[in-house]
Amino acid sequence: MKHYLSVNDIDNLTDWVKEARDIKANPTQFKTLGEGKTICLLFFNNSLRTRLSTQKAAINLGMDVIVMNFGGEGWALEYVDGTIMDQGKAEHVKEAAQVVSQYADIIAIRAFASLEDKKQDESEEVLMAFTKYATVPIVNMESSVGHPLQALADAITLNEANTKKKPKVVLSWAPHPRALPHAVANSFVQMMQLQDADFVITHPKGYELDTRITKDSKIEHDQNKALEGADFVYVKNWSSYSDYGKVLNEDKNWTITKKKLGNAKFMHCLPVRRNVIVTDEVLDSEQSIVIEQANNRTFSAQTVLKKILENL
Ligand code: CP
Repeated sequence: MKHYLSVNDIDNLTDWVKEARDIKANPTQFKTLGEGKTICLLFFNNSLRTRLSTQKAAINLGMDVIVMNFGGEGWALEYVDGTIMDQGKAEHVKEAAQVVSQYADIIAIRAFASLEDKKQDESEEVLMAFTKYATVPIVNMESSVGHPLQALADAITLNEANTKKKPKVVLSWAPHPRALPHAVANSFVQMMQLQDADFVITHPKGYELDTRITKDSKIEHDQNKALEGADFVYVKNWSSYSDYGKVLNEDKNWTITKKKLGNAKFMHCLPVRRNVIVTDEVLDSEQSIVIEQANNRTFSAQTVLKKILENL
C-alpha cells in the first residue's frame, strides 16, 4: 500500500482487523520495521486521540516522529496553481509538500472540512495537494470527507465486542450546538458496508449524508424504531449535507439515553459532549466502549503504518 487516504484503501477488512488484533496482542513485535524512518504529522486542526495514538503507533514500530501544528505555526499555504501570490499566502503547497518529503518517510495530515464551500471541501484540497506533490506516502488523519483511521479502529472495536454472526449496528445522529463535519459518519458508513451486519442509519430529515457514500444502506428516520434490537449504537453529530454545513435541528429527543440504548453497546469516536450527545448514565456504564475505541486508534494506525513501511 502506498497511501492511506480513505476506507477504499482497505483491500480486505477482515484481514486488516485480524492483523490489528495480532499487533494489539504484542504491540512492539515489529519494533525494527520502522528503524531509521521518520513520520511527520501535520495538523491543520486540533486533536487529542489522532495525535497521540498515531505517535504511539509510530513509536511502537520503531519510527521517529515529527509533529507540526501547521494551522498555527506554518506559513499560510496557497493551493491554486498559477496564482500570483501577492496576497496573504506565503508558500505554495508545491514546495511545502516536497520540502516536508525531504524530512520524512511518511506524511500524515489532518485537515477538516471548512463547511463553508462544499465543492472545495469535496475536492479534499489539502490532502490531495500533499498526495500530488509529496514524494512519500500520505496518511489521512481526518480530511474534509473521511476519517479512515477512526473507521478502522471502530471495525477493530466491533470485532472485539461482537458475539453474533450478524449484529445489528445503528449509526444515530445526535444533537450538537455547533456545525460538525461529515467525515467520521462517512467513513463509518463505508466501513460498515464492508461488514456482514444489519446496518441502519438514523437521523432527522434534512441530515441525509452524501448518497454517493450511503449508497443502498438502510435509512430510518424514526430513531426509536431504528434502535429496536440494536447490538451496537454508534452515535455522531453531523451538520446538514444538503443545506451544507448548517445546524437544522438541536432536538434533545435525539440524545442517547439508557432507555434508548437498551442492551446495546454505545460507541462514539470522541470527543463527546456529555448530556448533549449522550447522557452521563450511558457514558459511565459498562455498555459504553468508547475508551476501547480510543485505545484501538493506536492499533488502527499501527496496522496502516506497518503496511506502508513494508512497501517503502
Ligand atoms: N476521534 C478523534 O479523531 O479524536 P481527536 O479529534 O481528538 O483526534
